[in-house]
Amino acid sequence: MIDTHSHILPGVDDGARDYEQALQMLAIAVEDGVTTQVLTPHIQPGIYNNTLSSLSDQLIQFKQAVRDQEIDIELRLAAELRIGLEIMPMVQSNTVPWLGTWEGRRVFLMEFPHNQAPAGSINLIQWLLKHNAVPMIAHPERNKELQGDIRKLEPFLDAGCLVQVTAKSIVGGFGAEAHQIAVELLRAGKITLLATDCHNLAYRPPDLSTGYKAAAEIVGEQAAKALVDDNPRALLGMDSS
Ligand SMILES: [Fe+2]
Repeated sequence: MIDTHSHILPGVDDGARDYEQALQMLAIAVEDGVTTQVLTPHIQPGIYNNTLSSLSDQLIQFKQAVRDQEIDIELRLAAELRIGLEIMPMVQSNTVPWLGTWEGRRVFLMEFPHNQAPAGSINLIQWLLKHNAVPMIAHPERNKELQGDIRKLEPFLDAGCLVQVTAKSIVGGFGAEAHQIAVELLRAGKITLLATDCHNLAYRPPDLSTGYKAAAEIVGEQAAKALVDDNPRALLGMDSS
């Protein structure tokens, strides 16, 4: 499996706080069946002032520690960008830590504020799409406003956004509403990726296989595998397994 969302790169956001915790998280991911882990630290100006350049530097050091510990996993760097106008200059200067390429277009992981999915953001999204930057919306099922009315997601999907759902949501780990929406999106074939969004060892550990197995029970083995293997491979430009 390939996990396309994690806060394992240590000390750069609210995820792993140090190398020890980060390496333990990676070891758990390996045990869980993950062969490639995408690191997606938050980028949110004023709160998480990470950049492609600063994260790339951190990654070099972290990769060395992973090699030293002989943890057998491939690491990729991307980021989780909070929606905002700051994304525009990043696209123009090509300093977005891209998640990958989907159907010939560049994709990045984007999150809404926890409590809202601002309707006005469709204008920004249209601009991004015009500039060959496709937002993949992270965990819409956990967004309070979308939980109130999931039809509010439709304009974003119609515009061309992709959807990533948190694996734990499929098994009810983020409450009944998130669970219901996750399953609804899954059945409707609107999910491109399932990912852990792991943050730590205790409450948000790497746990992709649990969500994958639950998804397989609902939509079958092949459709579930697409979300944790085939689609991530296509997105990351890897050979199919
Ligand atoms: Fe995240």
